[in-house]
Amino acid sequence: MFFGMKIFIFVPNENKYINMCGIVGYIGKRQAWPVLVEGLRKLEYRGYDSAGVALVSAPGDMKVYKSVGKVADLERVVAGKDTSASTGIAHTRWATHGEPSTVNSHPHTSMDGRLALVHNGIIENYAILKQKLADKGYVFSSSTDTEVLVQLIDYIQTEGSLDLLTAVQLALKEVIGAYAIAVVDRDNPDVIIAARKSSPLVVGIGDDEYFLASDATPMVEYTNKVIYLSDGEIAVLRSGEQVRIVNLDNVECSHEAQTIAMNIGQLQKGGYPHFMIKEIFDQPECIADCMRGRLNADTCSVVLSAVNEHRERFVSASRFVIVACGTSWHAGLIGKQLIETMCRIPVEVEYASEFRYRNPVISPSDVVIAISQSGETADTLAAIELAHSRGAFVYGICNVVGSSIARATDAGSYIHVGPEIGVASTKAFTGQVAVLLMFALSLAKETGTISSEEYTSTVASLDAIPDKMRQVLKQNDYIAGMSRMFTYARNFIYLGRGYSFPIALEGALKLKEISYIHAEGYPAAEMKHGPIALIDADMPVVVIATRSPLYDKVLSNVQEIKARGGRVVAVVTEGDTVISSLADFSIQVPAVPECLDALVTSIPLQLMAYHIAVCRGLDVDRPRNLAKSVTVE
Ligand code: M6R
Repeated sequence: MFFGMKIFIFVPNENKYINMCGIVGYIGKRQAWPVLVEGLRKLEYRGYDSAGVALVSAPGDMKVYKSVGKVADLERVVAGKDTSASTGIAHTRWATHGEPSTVNSHPHTSMDGRLALVHNGIIENYAILKQKLADKGYVFSSSTDTEVLVQLIDYIQTEGSLDLLTAVQLALKEVIGAYAIAVVDRDNPDVIIAARKSSPLVVGIGDDEYFLASDATPMVEYTNKVIYLSDGEIAVLRSGEQVRIVNLDNVECSHEAQTIAMNIGQLQKGGYPHFMIKEIFDQPECIADCMRGRLNADTCSVVLSAVNEHRERFVSASRFVIVACGTSWHAGLIGKQLIETMCRIPVEVEYASEFRYRNPVISPSDVVIAISQSGETADTLAAIELAHSRGAFVYGICNVVGSSIARATDAGSYIHVGPEIGVASTKAFTGQVAVLLMFALSLAKETGTISSEEYTSTVASLDAIPDKMRQVLKQNDYIAGMSRMFTYARNFIYLGRGYSFPIALEGALKLKEISYIHAEGYPAAEMKHGPIALIDADMPVVVIATRSPLYDKVLSNVQEIKARGGRVVAVVTEGDTVISSLADFSIQVPAVPECLDALVTSIPLQLMAYHIAVCRGLDVDRPRNLAKSVTVE
């Protein structure tokens, strides 16, 4: 249950600044509730665990309804209740501080119920602010950072007898972190105050009415005129009056309304044609989010709070056993190499589905690491149960906050890459690798098995990895063009050695999943033990051949393939001339330390799988026969 507990306790270095909560607001002449609930539905793609709404109908009359679960659950809560109001704010929550629950759902209200606020982001200094407010007599009912902000605004406004705008401006000056917020006042239904810093917020301009949302999707059916608020700006929305935009010092900010031409589907995908390609392109930011608050570039150090809190348990582990499925299992294979290399502790990697049924030898001195994007995979959950029954300590690496695996494990780290919508896992994979890297580095520091030079240089390289990923993404056009040549391929072989072997497996899985082309991943040296018989002009071979101590051996494999008429796609290190000159296509990735290779070499293979599937006219985001969460055996 420790992973579960962790989300009740504020651990500053375990949180990311930007999350994917959804905000919707409306003020005007319509009934607000239908606009808000429809808006929440349009933001469902962002992922969420609870939803809520605040409706202000007349001075002194504000209703707040909340529910855990889906927007449909909120509708059930609201059914039959009074929803008449022309001003309202609503929210879908992706838990960060506090478990998914009704009390932690937004909107949060001030203690006297006068102000209601919805928030997307994280208030980093909320614990200090909360203590200050508690000293003044404020009582809190939730575990959230958001409740602190609404109480702070209330305190500042009441103490200084100020108007709401001024109170919001002063409160936000005290806040460290990221936010998009919308605030309403029970005693004044004529205004919504909205503000942003690092989390998106869009104002939609209608005819004597305003819409507000985390992106433009909830408003496109009402208006195509929008203003994208910039960091540090506050919008004052009053029905029938011109929108006013000011900064925290009350200086007016000028904004031209923009006209949006995209449809809802395009908007949800950030302008990309599919979620998968959006998620591939989001990776530099996602990995930066995953490392934020954990990796400190100034001190060149990594702090993973799970390792801090359970130092003895991890340091004294006789062995780690990683359990996972699919792509998460591939991340586990990389984790094995990282932990064994840096920490000198043996690691085994097991398919959770096999582990759970084969009476494995597990003892209380073992630490089991369960890796799962969704946190709901049935086999992985069963493997955790089995590990617990044998007395092992279980550490989880999950993306979905409050998921079953997050709750079932004794400790854990979230990967914090935001909801992954495409069925084929991309950003969750690199996020898992990034967490495993931070885990291995933090633990190696504790076990004293890494030299300070290697530790420092690896941390510095990890800090620079988002930029390296951006460089890889610049080759998207080249990869798209190359992929066209393979539209009608029927088979593929993927080869790699060392850290690149799991990438070969992952590249092959991506291709299989979305293009339905048969693909196999092998350790490159295994080729001569069988697969080489398959090589001919109709068997394209993808070789991950970055600079490593085994480069020359991989070069020999490439020569063997070419000698048999095979077609080679090589992923090589920038500046490579040898394998590049032999390969039919070569994709260059920036040089990084070998242990970080996966973070750059996986991207071209994701792109290749994506483009081949698109060329084949397939449903990239929802491939046949596959589910995003495999909650059954
Ligand atoms: O949610 P999980 O990480 O536990 O899911 C495990 C696999 O089902 C998952 O990685 C699957 O292989 C993906 N579709 C890969 O893209």
